[in-house]
Amino acid sequence: MSDPIRVRFVDGDEFEAAIGDSILDVALAHGIDLDHACGGVCACSTCHVRIVEGADALNESSDDEEDQLDEARDVGLDSRLGCQAKILRAPAGGVIAVRIPSWNVNLVREAH
Ligand code: FES
Repeated sequence: MSDPIRVRFVDGDEFEAAIGDSILDVALAHGIDLDHACGGVCACSTCHVRIVEGADALNESSDDEEDQLDEARDVGLDSRLGCQAKILRAPAGGVIAVRIPSWNVNLVREAH
């Protein structure tokens, strides 16, 4: 059996995840209040996250996802929509590290 896949929220906790989980799934399953205004159907950009490490474990972003990210704040090359970034395989570095952009951090802190 392979090692469990780990997702770490930068400045936060580290959780186990499974192939097929989205970053949003992992966050919500562990009480991290990542915003998701459209319910995870790629129709907003409120679930925007930055993948600091382990992007090799995730699916490629779609054109629809890129279009939504164009609307998001604090976007970079490592930006993904949490609901669309799905885990396909174990990351080479052992962990997927996720940063929630600073304008969303207050939400996360309030959840704890
Ligand atoms: S929750 Fe709306 S795009 Fe992810």
